[in-house]
Amino acid sequence: MSAHLIDGKQLAKEIRDRLGLDVKAFETRTGVRPGLAVVLVGDDPASAVYVRNKKKACDTAGLSVVDHHVPSDTTQAGLLDLIHQLNTDAAVHGILVQLPLPSHIDSRVVLQAVSPDKDVDGFHPYNVGRLVEGAAEFVPCTPSGVIRMIESTGETIQGKHAVVVGRSNIVGKPVAMLLMHRHATVTICHSRTTDLPAVCRGADILVAAIGKPQFITGDMVKDGAIVIDVGINRLDDGRLVGDVHGEQVRARAGWLSPVPGGVGPMTIAMLLVNTLEGARRAVA
Ligand code: GUN
Repeated sequence: MSAHLIDGKQLAKEIRDRLGLDVKAFETRTGVRPGLAVVLVGDDPASAVYVRNKKKACDTAGLSVVDHHVPSDTTQAGLLDLIHQLNTDAAVHGILVQLPLPSHIDSRVVLQAVSPDKDVDGFHPYNVGRLVEGAAEFVPCTPSGVIRMIESTGETIQGKHAVVVGRSNIVGKPVAMLLMHRHATVTICHSRTTDLPAVCRGADILVAAIGKPQFITGDMVKDGAIVIDVGINRLDDGRLVGDVHGEQVRARAGWLSPVPGGVGPMTIAMLLVNTLEGARRAVA
């Protein structure tokens, strides 16, 4: 058996195309162009690539995007000033602070400073709480992209055993919540899970968000499972691979999201969706 590929690139394009029309209609109706502010601190090369891709996608979809690139020695107070300024700027409907931040800055303090009404990443404790309640306002972009990808298979989520490998605030925990709200039975695994391969083998839906290249091997996957690979890792030979061993897992899974061209483009598409949502709330 060879898994069907879940084409995140194509799915993201469809979402962006639809969103472009929605943005146009919104602007015609309200006279307001949805705007995203992207805050990048320092010169982390991976973050710079992510930010560039996010900006390009905004431009194409007709959203305005303002880039605030500040030096790596920016103080926490300076960064908070910038965020307060963006919170009160009527042309800004979404604020994204690219993570990770330099070690002298407390990310929790910074994320709490973003207005929950402009928190398109869904990282503010208010939005985390709303998500846990099952009444999400802004859903974090990667997790909502993962759910869309699972839904695109046409398979039901309800009643399935979903295993999420990785317990980060950005991916693992919110994905688990979203799956639970869709009535999956959810297990969250991490580095200290006993016999992790056996737990993974029980998964009808397996979400890999560990940050370890090709960690999920063929023997860890149930025949026919839906496998979503959130990882993106660069190997010493320059190759970009996920947290899933694509070749091995393709032979067992029913569905598999590729890397690249899987979750990455979906994250960006969901950011655009959230920015339009921020603008809708601002004019409501
Ligand atoms: N760094 C890695 N993933 C993300 C994300 O989803 N949002 C932000 N702001 N930074 C990230």
